[in-house]
Order: sequence, then C-alpha cells, then structure tokens
Amino acid sequence: MNFLKWQEYFRSNQDHFDHLDWRNDDILTPDERRTILSSISQFQRGEYSEGKHFLEFAKNMKDESYIQALRFFIKEEQDHAGVLGKFMDNHSMEKLKNDWLDNVFRRLRKLADLECTITVLLTAEIISMIYYQALTKATASKLLKQICGQILIDEEMHLQFQSFSLRVLYEKKNILSIFISRILHRILMGGTIVMVWIFHRKVLKAGKYYFFDFFKAVFSEFKKCESMIADKSLRVPVTNRIIPAA
Ligand SMILES: [Fe+2]
Ligand SMILES: [Fe+2]
Repeated sequence: MNFLKWQEYFRSNQDHFDHLDWRNDDILTPDERRTILSSISQFQRGEYSEGKHFLEFAKNMKDESYIQALRFFIKEEQDHAGVLGKFMDNHSMEKLKNDWLDNVFRRLRKLADLECTITVLLTAEIISMIYYQALTKATASKLLKQICGQILIDEEMHLQFQSFSLRVLYEKKNILSIFISRILHRILMGGTIVMVWIFHRKVLKAGKYYFFDFFKAVFSEFKKCESMIADKSLRVPVTNRIIPAA
C-alpha cells in the first residue's frame, strides 16, 4: 500500500480553493491583460485532462491505492483549470479549445507507458512551478495572486507525488535503464524550457525571469525532483497540511 498516504493527502486537500474570495473587485489593466491573455489561456487548457490514458496505464502499478490517489490528483488538476477558467470568464477572456503545444504534450504522455506519462507530466509540473511564480509577479490582481499561490502549493506536492511514483517504477529497472531514462528526461526538460520561453516569455519577463533566470530556476526544481526520485527514505507526502485519517 505504497500510495495510501498520498490518497489521504489528496482527499484532505479537496477544499484547496475554498478560501478564494470571488467577490473581490479586481481589475486588470489593459497592459496586464495583453501580457497574460494568450499565456494564461494555454496554461488553463493544459491543466485540464480527464486522465483516461493515465488511469489505464496506472493499472500496471497493481496498487489500488495508487489508482485512488491518481483519481484525486486528476481532480485537483481539473480544479486548477476550473479556477483559472472562472477567473478568465470573469474578465471576459476567451478560453482555448485547442492548442498545438498542449496537443504535443498530450501525445507525448500517451506515447509509451506509465513511466513515460509521469515523466512528461513531471516536466510540465516543474515548468508550472516557475510559471505561476512569474504570473504572480506579473499581475496586480489579488485574486489571481491567490489562485497562483494555491496552485504553487499544490504543484509542490505534485512534484513529490510524481517523483515518488517514478521511484517506485525505477525499483523494477536496472541502473543502465534508469540512467537512460534520466538523460532522456533532461533532454525533454531542456526542449520544453525553450518552447515555453518562446510562447510565454512576456509573462516570464514581467515576472523578472529572463531566459537564463528561467533556465536556472527550472533546472533547480528539476534537480530537487531528481533528489526525491533517488531518495529511498521519502515514502509519505511531506506537507504542512494536517492530514485527517480516512
Ligand atoms: Fe496544475
Ligand atoms: Fe500539477
């Protein structure tokens, strides 16, 4: 029952956006709107997934607690898409129905197996950690800052969850195969940094991340994940949140 604690953590976090005050009047300046519009719509689109392939691949883990934890995790990501979408609606921002970069990531996730899905997802989540920090600094909207703040708290836990899941999968692999997986992940991370910079640099720059700052910040998160993947003592979610027993 490797993932029972994760299941409990995600269950306890379902109220994560209850503190948001939607009655707050917050106005985006035309400049701010121009900076964030196309970017936030891509991230809002990227946050939503039904996770059908993920759940199908997850059966290979042969651990019901993993499937349950994953269902909560998928719901949590859908909540991210939901609150960003609601914020966009309130500001009459059009949501994206289709996005080629998001489609590439979705195809990559379904490409091979559970390990591939988690690796691609972890890559996107590492990027999110820096992106939402930049978005927080790029906006004066209190509500958007609150939304980003909560997404960052959640994503920090997602990095732990995906790193732990990868380690469980790596336990069945030999050293050479793990080494190749880690190299491929680095290549994917590097390529993703470049693509995200091309399409989201307005927000990143407004958040004071120039290319090398962005690159360094992303790789610092990447290294934290590599340490968690290698850390055999990490077995339960490390969080400040009090997790009530189920
Ligand atoms: Fe998310
Ligand atoms: Fe996430």
